[in-house]
Formats: sequence, C-alpha cells, structure tokens
Amino acid sequence: MQSLDDFATQKLAVLERDSLRRMLVETDRVDGVWAMRNGRRLLSFCCNDYLNLTHHPAIKEAAIAALTRYGVGSGGSRLVSGNHPLFLELESRLARMKGTEAACVFGSGYLANIGIIPALIGEADMILIDELAHACLWAGARLSRATVVPFRHSDVEHVEALLSEQRGHHKRALIAIDGVFSMDGDLAPLPALAALAQRFDAWLLSDDAHGIGVVGGGGGSTFAHGAKADVPLQMGTLSKAVGGYGGYLCASNAVIELIRNRARSFVYSTGLPPANVAGAIAALDLIEGEPSYAALPLQNARAFTRMVGLPEAQSPIVPLLMGEASAALVAARRLESEGFLVIAIRPPTVPKGTARLRLTFTAQHPDAEIERLAGTIRSRLQAA
Ligand SMILES: Cc1ncc(COP(=O)(O)O)c(C=O)c1O
Repeated sequence: MQSLDDFATQKLAVLERDSLRRMLVETDRVDGVWAMRNGRRLLSFCCNDYLNLTHHPAIKEAAIAALTRYGVGSGGSRLVSGNHPLFLELESRLARMKGTEAACVFGSGYLANIGIIPALIGEADMILIDELAHACLWAGARLSRATVVPFRHSDVEHVEALLSEQRGHHKRALIAIDGVFSMDGDLAPLPALAALAQRFDAWLLSDDAHGIGVVGGGGGSTFAHGAKADVPLQMGTLSKAVGGYGGYLCASNAVIELIRNRARSFVYSTGLPPANVAGAIAALDLIEGEPSYAALPLQNARAFTRMVGLPEAQSPIVPLLMGEASAALVAARRLESEGFLVIAIRPPTVPKGTARLRLTFTAQHPDAEIERLAGTIRSRLQAA
C-alpha cells in the first residue's frame, strides 16, 4: 500500500504542477490596512477587515476588559458551562440589527452553516443552492443528506424552473445563497428569491458574511434592495466587517430555540471566548453609531471601479478576472512588487478558468493609494 507520506507528497506535486498549491505566508498586520510580509510593508487589498475594526482602540479595549473579567476561554459548550453573560447582549443586538425576533451565536460562520442546514433539512427534502455559494453552505447542504440541486448563479428563472419541476417530490425545500458573493462581490437577488420561496413553500437562507456592516446601511444584504427582503434565515459572521471571530443566525424565536437544541456545531462545540463576544458588541456599536464610516468601503470600491472602467461595485469586493491560476499568481506578484498585498484566488475556491485577483476595499484605504492601485492595474496588468 502507498505510504501516507507518499500519498501526501504526490498530491502536493500535482497541486504544484497546476499552480494550485497554497502556502501559509507569515503576515504581521500592523494595523487595519498595512501588513509586513517578507520584510516589506505592504498595503493590503485582500483582507475582509472592511471597517478596519480588528485594530480599533475601543473594540480592543472592550475585548481586554471582557478577558480580564471573564477569562480567556468560555470553558465549555454554551449549553453546559460556556454561556457567559455577554452572549445574551450580542444576540439581542444582532437580532435588532437584522430585524428578527432572536439570534444564535456560533463559534464561526463555517460552524454556523454546517449546523443550521442539517438541523432544518433532512433526507426527504431538497436544497436549491447557488452554484457559486460559499464552501460552508455547500458543506452544510451535503451534511443534511437532502437532495442538493445547484442553480445557475443568481438566476431567478432557473430557481423557478427547478422549483416548478421538483418541489412536489420533496417534503421541505430550502434556497441557500450568499447575500454578497465572497469572490465576485455581487448582491444576490434576495427579494425575487423571497417571492419564489413564498410561492413554492420553500425557506430562504442567506449568508451575509460579506454584507453586515458594509451594505444596506450596515444592516447587510437583506437591507440592500430598498425595502427589507423577507429572509427568514439570516446567517453571517463576526469575522469580516465586525472585525473579530464567530458566526450567527438571526431568525424567529422558534427557529433559534430549535437551532440551540439541534445544530450539532452549536451543541457539541465550545462557546466563543468572552473577548470575542465583547469585541463584537463594541463593533456593532460603531457600525450602528457611525453610518457614514460604515459607508466608506463601498464608496472606495466604487471610486476604484470608476477609475479602471469596471462595472460599479455592489460591495467592497471587486474581482479582476485573470483566467488561469498561473496568470493570477503572476499578477499578484507584480502588485506585490508595487507595494500592494493582493492574493490570487484559484480553483477550487473559484471555478476552473476563472482565477482572479480579489480586491477588497476598506474604510481606511487612503484615496491616493486607491488611485495608485488603479493606475498600476491599468498600466501593468491590462498591458500584460
Ligand atoms: C460567504 C462566507 N460564508 C461563510 C464564511 C465563513 O465564516 P467564518 O470565517 O466565520 O468561518 C465565509 C468566510 O470565510 C464566507 O466568505
């Protein structure tokens, strides 16, 4: 039999050959936008810290105070001994922000999706999932053992056709989609999907990981389409614009109570450390209290898309499609030589042939640097 090490070495060689091997590179984020890497100071355009809250003094202070008061870890699953007093406050704040009755905080966004979906959907049911949905929505869908039916990216007519054809064969149906697509930056057509869900007796789950804090006036993608979209399951993460770590679901009282009882990644996993929870509460204070600051990442992304002649950004995420993985790696290296930290995103994170640079804009990116980035991209990359 092939040894374990031989197996791993061969697998890695294939990844290397196809320009798909990933490496951990030590990166010291010195503040919300600058990072030290390989001895160089680089301006990061690849981080999800859209509001630069990872380094915000008031948020750090809140986290330190909670750590001092409640300790480093939560000490257990929240259902056992890990439900420290800060959770209630964070959950009621999230529910208020998202306009739901209740919320449930998980250890991470990934844990949230792999817990929520199998708690609500089972073997006799169907899940319609956007072909570009995040890996953890797919993981949750597969864990549920339901019939998983992908639909073309944000294609409402395709969802309608699939529901017309297949809804009758299944007990329950769930439509799962990213509210803001993590690798493309576009918004999901939530109002149209909500109408279909209503018509076909299906439930709608949106993953707002990249929406909270930065679109819809800070409330996220549910609020980014004019009137609030009717999304009964609003999932998200505290690890991007909120600046810390953790995941959540906002929903009705009954659904949240069921999730607390049945979502395995909630029941059988340790509660978030108190410092994370306190930091998230302080971050929500800032997001709700300073809407003009929360609007800056999208404004910066839009300034950039105007400068380079791309379609107007719908979120702080702007993809620059390169095609082959090797081309994306070369482009990332060129930008790094100009002092910009931008990461090549390659399959399987994105479909084959669509490797890209994924630019993310934050509140504190200096205007002059956005202009310099746009100039570099116009002259060096488009000429290549
Ligand atoms: C769309 C989307 N959903 C979920 C997650 C997972 O969130 P977390 O990093 O909190 O596990 C991410 C981020 O990695 C994401 O981009």
